[in-house]
Amino acid sequence: MASFTLNINGKDKQVDVDPSTPLLWVLRDHLDMVGTKYGCGIAQCGACTVHLNGSAVRACSLPVSAVTSQKITTIEGLSEKGDHPVQKAWLDIDVPQCGYCQAGQMMSAAALLNSNPNPTDEDIDAAMSGNICRCGTYVRIRKAIKAASQL
Ligand code: FES
Ligand code: FES
Repeated sequence: MASFTLNINGKDKQVDVDPSTPLLWVLRDHLDMVGTKYGCGIAQCGACTVHLNGSAVRACSLPVSAVTSQKITTIEGLSEKGDHPVQKAWLDIDVPQCGYCQAGQMMSAAALLNSNPNPTDEDIDAAMSGNICRCGTYVRIRKAIKAASQL
């Protein structure tokens, strides 16, 4: 066990865990932040996507010891009132089906728009290729990213 201070959604959080504990487990099991989902645990599905200094990363595969002193953003902190352009577009276009993958989808979409405010279809496909949706909402996701880029 070791003590770590993590900056999550603008606030410092203290956790006592094994240094190899993945960030996803710290978020869900130690900090009760369950918006970030567990899908595969091996960086293959994107359900656990969070931002590290504004870029999309897979929380299931990042040991907590690798993310101290960095700015972590989860779906709970994407916006204060749930009004990030991606969240608004997701609602307008009614993207989710079961919803399980959608927090990760939105975090990847928001990271894409951070670095590329006007993505092409190809840019969207490349940025979102690591986020799997078993319900097949891909067409609506692409439409919502385009809509969010105009907000
Ligand atoms: S749970 Fe992290 S990529 Fe699937
Ligand atoms: S909405 Fe069901 S897995 Fe994506």
